[in-house]
Amino acid sequence: MPITIKTAADAQGMRVAGRLASEVLDMLTPHVVPGVSTEELDRLAHDHIVNVQGAIPAPLNYAPSGYTPYPKSVCTSVNHQVCHGIPNDRPLKNGDIVNIDVTVIKDGWHGDTSRMYIVGEGSIAAKRLCQLTYEAMWRGIAKVKPGVRLGDIGHAIQTFTERQGFSVVREFCGHGIGRKFHEEPQVLHYGRPGTLEELAPGMVFTIEPMVNAGRREIKELGDGWTIVTKDRSLSAQWEHTVLVTDSGYEVLTVSAGSPAPPELAAAA
Ligand code: MF3
Ligand code: CO
Ligand code: CO
Repeated sequence: MPITIKTAADAQGMRVAGRLASEVLDMLTPHVVPGVSTEELDRLAHDHIVNVQGAIPAPLNYAPSGYTPYPKSVCTSVNHQVCHGIPNDRPLKNGDIVNIDVTVIKDGWHGDTSRMYIVGEGSIAAKRLCQLTYEAMWRGIAKVKPGVRLGDIGHAIQTFTERQGFSVVREFCGHGIGRKFHEEPQVLHYGRPGTLEELAPGMVFTIEPMVNAGRREIKELGDGWTIVTKDRSLSAQWEHTVLVTDSGYEVLTVSAGSPAPPELAAAA
């Protein structure tokens, strides 16, 4: 399957889906406090997506080949969990960091976004990791425009991250998105400038770097989904869905509560 090019009407559909996904994260923000369980957050998200937004939580029963169906409506990855953490009944505690990853389907279009939340008072190290990963994502987004190659995006993310002494997870990547949750291309968060696919207007893909405080190696838990760092170091991730425009990019997963882009992206 080649990379799909979205029409103006398609992009409008994806803008709506993207905003809805981001609004789920806005809605959850005040609930991410010490004592809440990730299962409670999943329930809140599920009910909001289905009953308020009239949309579908894409993760629920999602089953790529080789995987058992995903059992919940959002992913919640706590502390040394890298991605695809499954919500459970353990209460979050002061100082935990958690990534909440929301994907909604509205009128057949997918919007996919995640943010980091610090539960209560975070350590300086935890705050630094979350902040730096946010900037890493934006270093990638800021590169997006026609003519640029996917390797340029990966390189921007990797060099920034590694310069600060952190590591980039290699096994999971961003992805094309549209009528399907995961489309071509793969968007690696590392790479060499001038390599891989050239970007063209109408492409839509996610940028979602996973950054580890320690080594980049990961392993999968016995539940068949949860990915953790091998050395149990903290891991963070942020994700946006991005449209390639004629002159640059448009972030589709934005809403009233989206954190401000960093300085480096403010001009775009
Ligand atoms: N939202 C994740 C991504 O960014 C995918 C989660 S797959 C699931 O690609 F089944 F775990 F939900
Ligand atoms: Co994604
Ligand atoms: Co996601």
